[in-house]
Amino acid sequence: MPATRILMCPPDHYHIDYAINPWMERNTGEVSLELAREQWTALHDAIAARAEVTLIEPVEGSPDMVFTADAGAVCGGVAVACRFFHPERQREAGYFKRWFEEHDYDVHEPPASFEGGDAWIDPEQPWIWIGYGFRSSNAAHRCVGEWLNREVLSLKLVDPRFYHLDTCMSVLARGYVMYYPPAFDAESRQLIEARVPAAKRIVVAEDDVMKFACNAVNIEDTVIFNSASDTLKSTLAEAGFDPVEIPLGEFVKAGGSARCLTLKLLG
Ligand code: ARG
Repeated sequence: MPATRILMCPPDHYHIDYAINPWMERNTGEVSLELAREQWTALHDAIAARAEVTLIEPVEGSPDMVFTADAGAVCGGVAVACRFFHPERQREAGYFKRWFEEHDYDVHEPPASFEGGDAWIDPEQPWIWIGYGFRSSNAAHRCVGEWLNREVLSLKLVDPRFYHLDTCMSVLARGYVMYYPPAFDAESRQLIEARVPAAKRIVVAEDDVMKFACNAVNIEDTVIFNSASDTLKSTLAEAGFDPVEIPLGEFVKAGGSARCLTLKLLG
């Protein structure tokens, strides 16, 4: 099996000087760059031991560029580039688009806001889950599905703490999905129940979603995340996964963690 390829961005210019989600509101100016670098490097090394990591050059003035998951959705040589909702992040879109073009992706730009943190491609199923309600607009969903040649399963997010789909749901290998049901409206919860059999649905409790346990990077059987309860770790182990905790507290302050810091470049 070819190695999973993952795009990351070193946190050289990472800090919090604006607030575009509830996590950032209480943390303006609160980041230790030194600790952030240590945490990012630990995540990088854990991923590099299991996958091929590619880096994009960080740009001063775009502190959230470290969250490469938001760059778009990538699969099969096609990159659907991001279109950020907030002006604070809009400059990043050009840097990510240029990277995709330089790496020979067939790049598409959505007609409405679309942030990669709202997208979960299931490599084992012919569909893509896309969250909307805070950052991405469902007006972009149809095009994204056409460009990636996947059925779009749209999920409405209703809790501002979980403003991106990857803060409250994680698509794992072998058909498993980890999620926090109260972050979704009733229709979206029904859609998840209709597509994912009960035995494959790992329901995450509030204490775990608040630790960003759903914001996980799954490489084969390893599930890497900031932190999780013993209960969730043993549920994952029973399902055949190997949970690995890497403290990412400096990034949680900005409303992100493991998954947000990585973009899977699916083949
Ligand atoms: N501060 C960033 C923002 O609010 C965090 C992004 C986290 N990314 C993610 N995929 N959840 O946009």
